[in-house]
Amino acid sequence: MDNRPIGVFDSGLGGLTAVKELMRILPNERILYFGDTGRVPYGTRSRDTILRYSKQDMRFLLKHNVKAVLAACGTVSSTAKAEGDRLPVPYIDVLRPTARAAVNQTKNKKIGIIGTSATIASGSYRREILMIDPEIEVYEQACPLFVSLVENGFVTPQDEVTRLVAERYLAAIREKGVDTLILGCTHFPIISATIRSVMGRHVQLIDAGREAALGCLEVLKAADLLCDAEQESEHQYFVSDDTQSFYHVAELFLGQSVRGKVERIDIENY
Ligand code: DGL
Repeated sequence: MDNRPIGVFDSGLGGLTAVKELMRILPNERILYFGDTGRVPYGTRSRDTILRYSKQDMRFLLKHNVKAVLAACGTVSSTAKAEGDRLPVPYIDVLRPTARAAVNQTKNKKIGIIGTSATIASGSYRREILMIDPEIEVYEQACPLFVSLVENGFVTPQDEVTRLVAERYLAAIREKGVDTLILGCTHFPIISATIRSVMGRHVQLIDAGREAALGCLEVLKAADLLCDAEQESEHQYFVSDDTQSFYHVAELFLGQSVRGKVERIDIENY
């Protein structure tokens, strides 16, 4: 048993898709979230920069005495696994749980993966999938503009701009006949209605944030780190930019208003 909070981080607010699921499956746990809103996006940056940012984010969470670190970011998961595995607390990322869910889901053994440029260039999801089942055909597409569209609130199926971008990005993968599509960036589930309408209803979408939360539950259970009662204090949210805009966009991700404190920190100090 361990009553310390679970540390969750992302380059911005996409990781809140994992938080939403954590709140559902582990309602007694306290969550300490860091969104690097001052430096988002990570996915278009160099490997060295993503590594530096990720290490600072992990240090920030450890300083706040978390019992586990969940990298709720496809880009960080694809770049900083070695750093995460060296942490003194359990480290969970989005890759393995998401790949496993996709492999379990596909019937025709054709899986599409969409993510940031860094995630797709790393080949990380592809490797995880082929490790589980080498016969699967994998088709990948980087969709960097989705991140900005989501962070700026162009998220409904009525948002023409998002639909046009989705058509352009997804056409090739759709033509390959995949029956399962990994939303490999935790920002993407917010526009799943648009993605679904472009891909067709028969294609199953796998939400990396949700799967990472389920992976986290598994790890905490196995390590006997779940809390033993409802926690008195609330969740805590930290960002590296304006807290005001956080409230509005965070609601979209959480599907509910933000309860708990939101503070701005200087991540360069970590
Ligand atoms: N949510 C991130 C991911 O899963 C972010 C995108 C970015 O910072 O580019 O990759």
